[in-house]
Amino acid sequence: LRPYVICHMCTTIDGKILVDRWGRLPGGKTGGALFETTAASFGIGSWLVGTHTMREFSAKLPGRLASVSRRIPHEDHLADPEARRFAIGADAKGILRFKKNEVEGDHVVLLITDRVSRDYLAHLQAARVSYLFCGKQNLDLRVALTKMGAQLKIRKLMLQGGGAFNGAVLKAGLVDEISQVIVPVVDGGSGVTSIFEIPDPSRHAAAKLRPIRQRTLPGGIHWFRYRVAATTPSRK
Ligand SMILES: NC(=O)c1ccc[n+]([C@@H]2O[C@H](COP(=O)([O-])OP(=O)(O)OC[C@H]3O[C@@H](n4cnc5c(N)ncnc54)[C@H](OP(=O)(O)O)[C@@H]3O)[C@@H](O)[C@H]2O)c1
Repeated sequence: LRPYVICHMCTTIDGKILVDRWGRLPGGKTGGALFETTAASFGIGSWLVGTHTMREFSAKLPGRLASVSRRIPHEDHLADPEARRFAIGADAKGILRFKKNEVEGDHVVLLITDRVSRDYLAHLQAARVSYLFCGKQNLDLRVALTKMGAQLKIRKLMLQGGGAFNGAVLKAGLVDEISQVIVPVVDGGSGVTSIFEIPDPSRHAAAKLRPIRQRTLPGGIHWFRYRVAATTPSRK
C-alpha cells in the first residue's frame, strides 16, 4: 500500500519556485517562511524531495569517501526503528553526504539504486542515515513509495520539490493532490525551475485537476488545492 501523496509548493504567478529570488513578500514573510508555515499546517510528518533539494539539508563534506574493504549487502537499512517522521531524499547515484541523520527532528532516509558504491553505504551507515534500494540504474518511484508504506508505515506524504523531481513523480501517476501557494510575484526568468519540469513531454498536458479548496492569505497570496483527476501516460 503506497502513501497518499500531496505535492505542496510555493510559486510565482508564472509557476517558478526559486524562493531566494523573491525577496520579502507582501504580507511580510519570506518565501521560505511562507513555505514552512503552509506545509506545517497539514500536520503530515514525512516529506520527500529530489536530489538538488535534499542537498540543501545535507553536509558540505568532500566528495571523496573513505574506502572500505568489507562487503556490504545491497539490502534496505533502517538506522532508527523508532523514527515516525521522515525526511526522504532521492539519491540514485550516491552523491549526497551527511554528518547527522535528522533534519529538524525528521529522520533522514535516502532512496538509492544499485549504482551506489559500498563506500557510500558505509558512509550512510556511519552517519546513521537510513536507505532503501529502489532500482538498478534509476529510481523506480512506485517501488519507492510502496517501500515507504510497508517499511516506514507512512500513510500520507508531502512531496516538496524541486520541479524536476515533482515532474517525475507526477508523470509516474503517483501524485494524488497538489497544494499550490501562489505569491504575487512574476519571476520571468526563462530556464528558472518551475513547479513541474517534465523533459520530453507528450503532446498533451501532464495532468487534469479537480479543484477542492481555495484560500486567500494576507498580502494577496492565493492557496489552491486540487485532486489529480488524470495524468497523461508518457509516450515511451
Ligand atoms: N518554492 C518551493 O516551494 C520549493 C520547494 C522545494 C524546493 N524548491 C527549490 O527547487 C530547487 C531544486 O529544484 P530542481 O528541479 O533543480 O531539483 P530537484 O527536483 O530537487 O532535484 C533534481 C534531481 O533529482 C534527481 N531526480 C529527478 N528525477 C528523478 C527520478 N525520477 N529518480 C531519481 N532521481 C531523480 C536527479 O538527480 P541525479 O540526476 O543526480 O540523480 C535530478 O537532477 C531548489 O532551489 C529548491 O530550493 C522550491
